[in-house]
Amino acid sequence: MKLRSRVLLCCWLIGFAGLTSAQNDDSIPIIFDTDFAMPPTDDALALMLALQSPELDILGITTVAGNHSLEQATSDVLRMLEIAERIDIPVHEGADLPLVHRVSDFAVKSYGSWYSDEPPTEPYGGFAKKKVEDEPAAAYIEREVLANPGEITIVALGPLTNIARAIQSNPDFAGKVKQLVIMGGAVASLPDGAGNITPNAEYNFWVDPEAARITLRSGIPIELSPLNVSRKSALTRDWYNKMVAVETPLTNLLKISLGPRFETDPDRVWLMYDQIAVASLIDPSLVTSEKMYVDVDDNHDINYGVSLGGSEVWPGAEGTQQMNVQHDLDWPRFIKMFIERVQRPVAD
Ligand code: RIB
Ligand code: CA
Repeated sequence: MKLRSRVLLCCWLIGFAGLTSAQNDDSIPIIFDTDFAMPPTDDALALMLALQSPELDILGITTVAGNHSLEQATSDVLRMLEIAERIDIPVHEGADLPLVHRVSDFAVKSYGSWYSDEPPTEPYGGFAKKKVEDEPAAAYIEREVLANPGEITIVALGPLTNIARAIQSNPDFAGKVKQLVIMGGAVASLPDGAGNITPNAEYNFWVDPEAARITLRSGIPIELSPLNVSRKSALTRDWYNKMVAVETPLTNLLKISLGPRFETDPDRVWLMYDQIAVASLIDPSLVTSEKMYVDVDDNHDINYGVSLGGSEVWPGAEGTQQMNVQHDLDWPRFIKMFIERVQRPVAD
């Protein structure tokens, strides 16, 4: 029996319809791993897309430090689920620091605040009443995957610390994950492959290079959504205006967060990162991919966190694996789908 059917049966048996009517029997069961923050952060827009897409069944959300502290990520995602009227989805808190990477002056000055121990700022509408689960993220991911071998897709949109911990904790884990969709890395051997935190390193991989390397060498089938494909997106004020033309709790949130940015800078163009990773799972035909071997440099030197891709394994990269690397996007189709989804009534 498929995971979805088992869940439905279970819900029926306990007399609780915890699933939205829009989800269907063929939906893909996912764990959504995120360095979340409220919009305009891309993780929030990616979660909106996932929540509004019946093709995906979000079994649980796991948080990780990245864009902000772990506490901020958890606080914001709990509130977001209230706004989206999806408090049925459990949230598990994960790693508050990378496996090895230590705080540096560069980290403090650069984008992101994964190292921060500041208390979380209050999200729109106040702190959530919904509570985080007791079970830590890596333990939850491991348990859920082992209970449903070969069925669960993990969508990883932040530093890969939680995923690496689950891989390290149980040698059977990697072989039981159906697929891992990762937003991370930048492949210099393909067009648009420069880094966004150091000249060649992408943010998620740079925050936790050791975790990225462990994950990319784990044997789990991987769909990689690196900066190369993110750079084919361009969210302008015109697209934003279309997005907020319909009023829902989600488009209101977009109005509050993106609206003022476009007021002060009408020509601003936003890249979409995590949203593309999610969209590629909903409709793989939106992206063009190439099979490549990808590895991550975890030497604590100038290339720390840099990802490299090749059509064959090269000397020094022995042990790395082949994966699908996204490098092009059907932008018009993607943005139309994104807008149509976020405009749907919530919890429909
Ligand atoms: O480099 C872009 C990635 O870093 C995105 O996932 C963004 O949310 C940050 O985590
Ligand atoms: Ca992210």
